[in-house]
Amino acid sequence: MYSSGTLRIHELTAEERTVYATLKPECLPEHVAIIMDGNGRWAGHRSLKRFLGHQQGAKSVQQVTETASRIGLPWLTLYAFSLENNLRRPRAEVNFLMRLLKSYLESNLQRMMDNNVRIKYIGRTHELPPEVQDKMAWAADATARNTGTTLTLALNYGGRSELVDAFRGLAEEMKHKHISVDRITEEDIHRHLYTAHMPDPDLLIRTSGEMRLSNYLLWQVAYAEIFVTDRLWPDFRGIHLLEAIADFQRRERRYGGLGEASGEVDEEAERFKIAAG
Ligand code: FPP
Repeated sequence: MYSSGTLRIHELTAEERTVYATLKPECLPEHVAIIMDGNGRWAGHRSLKRFLGHQQGAKSVQQVTETASRIGLPWLTLYAFSLENNLRRPRAEVNFLMRLLKSYLESNLQRMMDNNVRIKYIGRTHELPPEVQDKMAWAADATARNTGTTLTLALNYGGRSELVDAFRGLAEEMKHKHISVDRITEEDIHRHLYTAHMPDPDLLIRTSGEMRLSNYLLWQVAYAEIFVTDRLWPDFRGIHLLEAIADFQRRERRYGGLGEASGEVDEEAERFKIAAG
């Protein structure tokens, strides 16, 4: 169980409350990670420019964050800008996304405060433009004492580069403390990830139908349940987060074990099967 501020179920919309009523509040995921995809397609379907899709996507970010905070979700981590986006998208689009991020943080800060949301970031954020970093630091500082949902924006983020950074950090530590390589544990690697302070995601949501991880939280999603929806990110709302959680709660999580439904293993029968080939 977790505690993440006060539940504010009465602030959900009537439709959200209907879905929430089907959930088991004691079995909510602790950490939901989302690959927000489909902004460009959303705009394309309406013969609009791509940047309008991103603008609409920023509205979804706020709506989903507020629903997460109302149901007391402790951790929400959104893939807002990948290393690949930074390297491979036209400069004009990258510049637009940077301006959008700044204005998003500025114009939603009060709502973050009202919703008790704490803002954090993961990724190679030191490579972002200085004025963007300043605005990010401003929003993180202003919300640092909030105790509800932690909204983590993955910015200039890549899962493999996170592992490279983690291994570099760990190698430094080992050199410093004269630790031999055969003593490295999973816990050592975890301690050097950007996400060392949070639990691994239990639920990974991807919008717009693609069945890919796109270099997102590669280490951390080892046991996450994956929920893919065809809905494009600018159409994704709090109610869809709740529907994904309802789907998550219908699954049996086994972590490589047998799970509850499998019953006892009949060793005699198993031996017979092996002997019979
Ligand atoms: C994918 O759409 C989305 C991104 C590039 C990242 C998500 C960005 C936002 C939601 C914008 C605002 C975010 C914040 C935090 C202010 P795409 O362009 O790849 O869509 P497509 O695959 O349909 O082309």
